[in-house]
Amino acid sequence: MPAMAFAESSGGGMDFPGKLTSQVIVCTIIAAFGGLMFGYDIGISGGVTSMDDFLIKFFPAVYRTKHEVKENNYCKYDNQYLQLFTSSLYLAAILASFFASISCKKFGRKPTIQAASLFFVTGAILNTVAKNIEMLIVGRLLLGAGVGFGNQAVPLFISEIAPARYRGGLNICFQFLITVGILCANVINYGTSRMHPYGWRVSLGGAAVPAIILLIGSLIIVETPTSLIERGKKDEGLRTLKKIRGVDNVEKEFDELLHATELAKQTKNSFRNLMKRSSRPQLVCATILQVFQQLTGINVIMFYAPVLFQTMGFGGDASLLSAVVTGLVNAASTLVAIFTVDKFGRKKLLIEAAIQMFIAQSVMGAILKVHLKSANIMPNNYALFVVVLVCLFVSGFAWSWGPLGWLIPSEIFPLETRSAGFFFAVSMNMFCTFVVAQSFLTLLCQMKSTIFFFFAACIVVMGAFAIFILPETKGIHIDEMNERVWKKHWFWKRYFDDGDNDKGDQDIKADQPEKQ
Ligand code: BGC
Repeated sequence: MPAMAFAESSGGGMDFPGKLTSQVIVCTIIAAFGGLMFGYDIGISGGVTSMDDFLIKFFPAVYRTKHEVKENNYCKYDNQYLQLFTSSLYLAAILASFFASISCKKFGRKPTIQAASLFFVTGAILNTVAKNIEMLIVGRLLLGAGVGFGNQAVPLFISEIAPARYRGGLNICFQFLITVGILCANVINYGTSRMHPYGWRVSLGGAAVPAIILLIGSLIIVETPTSLIERGKKDEGLRTLKKIRGVDNVEKEFDELLHATELAKQTKNSFRNLMKRSSRPQLVCATILQVFQQLTGINVIMFYAPVLFQTMGFGGDASLLSAVVTGLVNAASTLVAIFTVDKFGRKKLLIEAAIQMFIAQSVMGAILKVHLKSANIMPNNYALFVVVLVCLFVSGFAWSWGPLGWLIPSEIFPLETRSAGFFFAVSMNMFCTFVVAQSFLTLLCQMKSTIFFFFAACIVVMGAFAIFILPETKGIHIDEMNERVWKKHWFWKRYFDDGDNDKGDQDIKADQPEKQ
């Protein structure tokens, strides 16, 4: 990726000397393979769970319902176990991201990324050779551990090595590879759905490929200077900083990192520190962004696109093919975010996309309400129009709430609460993904097309949040956020009025100072 391609920040914050070096670019690309692992998993489940061979072997009851003559359009896949197959991964990821946040702080970002790839390889192998549902679920849990470790460490890693004015674009490479992973999974599913009876094994086994690439690549990436200094390796931290910035005069940035580390050292327990009043703005914004990201309804499309398209009357092949098209739109639109986020800022992208996604979800809901009853086949031209609306929705998500749901939480916390705070964002993502994955097929069966209006209503709320409550973080150094962003924000500055900021966890009782 050429350095020139990234937009220069037009202002906002002071930047430190340094170039966008090949070191930073290579490390970013390698680490972003963690995103590919995650994306592959998101994309593979939907296709595999619509393959007859897979259903016959593990979910015979679903197979029978699917092929019943008088089935209900909205209910043919409603099965708790089938949903558990998709969602079990996210439960494991919640737990794993907690341990990963500790590992990030204690051992560093790099070993945490390596652990992620090991979990993932093991899970993929187990899934490929699965003989029964137990092996299948244990494999999914291991994949979940990989996702938890990877999603915790990779965005932090990239945000910490990136120069401030390129941070947005570089961090979104993580999301870009998530979308590439989803796309690869869709294409692979399209091919393996014809490989009877073991196509699903090939699909599930493919998950090992990005994990092996990440494992090998992680041997050559650097540790972040922040993490080195945080763990007492100051000289190595300075050397690494010079290397990744490509200049020698890094003193200012190094001092900033030392200062951030000094503050962080006063904090014995980052989780307790997160409960301080002055941590509330970052904690609320980071977690709510992830809740909102999932309430767009994106994973309904990502997990269940083939199932959804079959619901509308497409044949098996056409459904998988439509999922490939949405996958392409997803990946291409994420590139838009890479090249615009440091130029236009985070908020503009979020607001524009909220409008676009609202229109898409509402019109889609209306069409399904009118044209898809419980037992009919939707007229072909309407079904195609729904595919277009899905693409409109996905592109909006892909240049906004998708990447920014990861970028913003990784850049807004001060060092003392960064990995603990980011854990809340990651686990909230996993939890909400779990809820959507576990309940969507049941909700679709019960609420029918109304479910799309529910997502549209959520999008209105999140648009308002982006307009009024969320601060802009474009171009500000990651260790200067409190001073330059939060303390100046019309709403959030009140959380810093009481002076409990920066004093460490001994001040936790100052949570409600006004009342004392
Ligand atoms: C979200 C996933 C989603 C993916 C789609 C990610 O940012 O966290 O839940 O499936 O984007 O591209």
